[in-house]
Amino acid sequence: MISSAFLSGGICAVLSVAPLAQTPSPSERAGTADTSLDARVESVLQRMTLEEKVGQLVQYSAGQPTGPGTGRSDYEDMIARGQIGSLFNVVDPHEINKYQKIAMEKSRLHIPILFGLDVIHGFKTEFPIPLGLASTWDPSIVEKASRVAAMEAAADGIRWTFSPMVDIARDARWGRMAEGAGEDPFLGSAMAAGYVRGYQGSRLDAPDSIAACAKHYLGYGAAEGGRDYNSTEISEHTLRQFYMPPFHAAVEAGTASLMSAFNSLNGVPSSANPFTLKQVLRKEWGFRGVVVSDWNAVGELMPHGIATDGATAARKAFLAGVDMDMVSSLYHDNLQQIVKAGQATQAEVDVAVRHVLRVKLALGLFEHPYVDEGAAAKAFYHPESIALAQTAAERSFVLLKNADGSDGKALLPLGSGTQSIAVIGPLADDSSYPGGAPQGAGPRVSLPAALVQRLGESHISRFKGVGILDGTDQEIAVAVAGAQKADVVILTLGETPEMSGEAASRAHLGLPGRQQELLEAIVHTGKPVVLVLFSGRPLTVPWAFEHVPAVIAAWLPGIAGGPALARTLFGDVNPSGKLVVSWPRSVGQEPLYYNHLNTGRPAGNMDLTRPPSDVASRYLSRYIDEQNTPQFPFGYGGSYTSFSYGSTRISTQRLSAAALNKGLSAGAGGTAAMTAEAAVTNTGSRPGEEVVQLYIQLLGTSVAEPVRALKGFQRVSIAPGETKQVKFELRPEEFAIWTDRNQFAAETAKVNVWISPDSAHGSPAQADIQP
Ligand code: NOJ
Repeated sequence: MISSAFLSGGICAVLSVAPLAQTPSPSERAGTADTSLDARVESVLQRMTLEEKVGQLVQYSAGQPTGPGTGRSDYEDMIARGQIGSLFNVVDPHEINKYQKIAMEKSRLHIPILFGLDVIHGFKTEFPIPLGLASTWDPSIVEKASRVAAMEAAADGIRWTFSPMVDIARDARWGRMAEGAGEDPFLGSAMAAGYVRGYQGSRLDAPDSIAACAKHYLGYGAAEGGRDYNSTEISEHTLRQFYMPPFHAAVEAGTASLMSAFNSLNGVPSSANPFTLKQVLRKEWGFRGVVVSDWNAVGELMPHGIATDGATAARKAFLAGVDMDMVSSLYHDNLQQIVKAGQATQAEVDVAVRHVLRVKLALGLFEHPYVDEGAAAKAFYHPESIALAQTAAERSFVLLKNADGSDGKALLPLGSGTQSIAVIGPLADDSSYPGGAPQGAGPRVSLPAALVQRLGESHISRFKGVGILDGTDQEIAVAVAGAQKADVVILTLGETPEMSGEAASRAHLGLPGRQQELLEAIVHTGKPVVLVLFSGRPLTVPWAFEHVPAVIAAWLPGIAGGPALARTLFGDVNPSGKLVVSWPRSVGQEPLYYNHLNTGRPAGNMDLTRPPSDVASRYLSRYIDEQNTPQFPFGYGGSYTSFSYGSTRISTQRLSAAALNKGLSAGAGGTAAMTAEAAVTNTGSRPGEEVVQLYIQLLGTSVAEPVRALKGFQRVSIAPGETKQVKFELRPEEFAIWTDRNQFAAETAKVNVWISPDSAHGSPAQADIQP
C-alpha cells in the first residue's frame, strides 16, 4: 500500500508550534513509509538521461488561461522527447488521454504526465470559498469537501490540485484572503491538514485521490499594503509562529507538494529562498514531496532584481530548492547547460527528479496513466455531494447582527407568517450568482428560487436595484417601490467573485458601485431589512451595521448557497459560523488581526470614539479618528439562541518550563500539560451549535507574545437549557514560543487562559510557568 503520508520523512529537528490535537500522526493514519517506492524511483532514475531528468522538472499550462508566460505550444513533440513532467489547465479527459498516450507510447521511458489544476473549493460540485469553509471552524467538513473535489477531479483525469492555500491573511485588502483560512495559525493548521487528508485520502494511489499542494510558501499573504504580489518583510519569530505553522501542518499531514510563492521575503524571493525551501522545509521538516514554483515565479526573479538573465534565474531557483518550474520554460532552456557548466551537480538534479517521480509513483500513475473518459461525468454532482455543499454553506454563514425590533423580537429567523418577501440587489440571481463555478454550473438554485420553492411564486418579488458597479436612479426607485409592498426585504449586496481572489486587491472595502445608495434608500422605507453580504473578504459597511437590523456574512457560498440561505433565514438551521478574520470598521485599520502584540502604549479597551483631548489618551498606539477595535472580532458569530460561559477552570496553576521542554523534545502530540474547561449553557429557546474557543497569552517571555493566541476550539451542539462542560487539553507545544535564542521552547512566564465565544471576551484563568 502506498500511504498518502509517504512524503514527510519525519525528521523534525524543530517542533511545530501548532500541532493538532485531533489529527493523528501520518503514520498512525496511513501506515509507515513505503520503502519499495524509493527502490522504484531509483530504478527509473538510473535509466534517465540529463535531458529526461530536466524534463521531469518542467511544467506548462496547456489550456486556459493563455497569454504571457504560458510557456510554449509544441507540447506534443516535447512530451515525446521526455521534456515535460507535468501539464495543467487541461480539463477535457479526452485531451488528457491524448497527451498521456504520447508520454506512455512515444517517449523513451514511458513516464506518465502528472496533470494539475487549481481545484480550490470543489471541481464540479462547488463548495463555499475557502474563507467560508474556514468560517465553519469544522476541519471535518473541509476534509469531506476536499474528498468530493478529489473524487470529481480524479474522475476527470486530474491527479494534482494546487490547493490548499494556507497563507495567513491579516489584511482584507488582499484579494486572496478569500482563498485561505484567515488570520490564525492554529485554525489555519487544522484546516490545512483537513484539506490534505481530504484530497489525498488514506491512499494516494486510490483512483479517487489527488495530490495536494500547500501554497504559497512563504509569506505571500503579508503583501505590503494588501497589494497582490507585493514584497514582504517578516521577522523569523513571526514566520515561525504565524506564517509557517499551516505549511508545517500540511507537511505533517503528508501533502505531496508545496508551491513556492511570488513574493520577496526579507529581500529574497520565496522562489529562490534556500532558508525557507531547504533549511526549514527539507532539513527541519523532512519534506520529501515536490516543490513547484508559482506561475512564472522563476522568470520573475528577473523583475525582482536578483537575476539579470533567464539562466541565472533558473540556477538561483533550482539551487534554492524549487524542483519544478511552472511555465517559465527557464529550466527547460537552461538547466542542462547549468549542470554541464558545473554550476549545479547531477546529484542535485537527481534529488529534484526523485521528488517528482515519487509523487507520480505514489499516485499509481505508472500503472494507471489513463482516465476513463466515459465514466468521468458519473462522478459529478452526486446528490450527496450537493447536500454536503449545502451543509458546508449553512455552517459557513456568520450572523453578524440580529437586533430586536420594536416588538422585542429579533428579525431573524423569519416567522412562518411572512407573506411577502422582496429580494433586492444585484447578487441574488442565477445569472450572477456568486461562487464562480470552478468547472461548470451544475444544478444551482438561487436564493429567490429557493424562496419561491418554499413560499410560492406569488410571495416573492425580485428587484435588481443596481448592478455591482452601475445602476440608475430609476432602478433604485423601482426597487424602493417593490420594498414598500413587501413584509420583509432581503437585500443581497457585496462583491462578485472576480472582486476577490488573485490579482483582486482592493484599496476601498466598502460596497462597490451604487450599492450603498441602494442600501440607504431601502432602509429608509422603514421595512424590516435583512442584509445578506456576499464577498470574499469582510466589507467596511459601518452604516449598515448601525441601521440594518439583521446582517449575515454569506461569503461566496457555492452551488447550494441559495437553499442554504433560505433555510437559514427561516430558521431551519441556526447560524453557527464564526469569523476567521477580524472585521474592520475602516480600511485604514488594515492590517488588522486579533493576535497582535500589545505595544508599549496599548490603548486597551479605552473608548476611542472621540479625538484625544488629553495627554493620557493621546500618546497611545491609536488613531485620532478611528477605534482600534474591529467592527467584529476574530471568532465572533451570532446565533438564533444565546450561550453563556462559566468561568475558565484550569487543572494546574503551576507549570514547569523544564518539564514542558522535556515534553517538547519527546515530540508533538505528547501528554497534556494542562487541561482547561468551562461550562457553556444554551440560555435561549433553540438548539444551537457553538464554536467554543480557547486562547492563551504569555507574559514575561524573552520575545513579546500576542495579546491572545488561539490554542483550541470545539464545535458543540447544545440543547435549550442544557449546559455542557467543554474541556481542552493543552500540550507542551501550546506553550512553546520562538525565543530570542532562535528555537522553540517554553520559557518562564505568566499565563492567561481564556475559554470564550470569540477573541475579545471572557476573563482569564491564570497560571505560572516556573523554571
Ligand atoms: C498563480 C496562482 O498564484 C497560484 O495559486 C495558482 O496555483 C497558479 N497561478 C496556477 O494557476
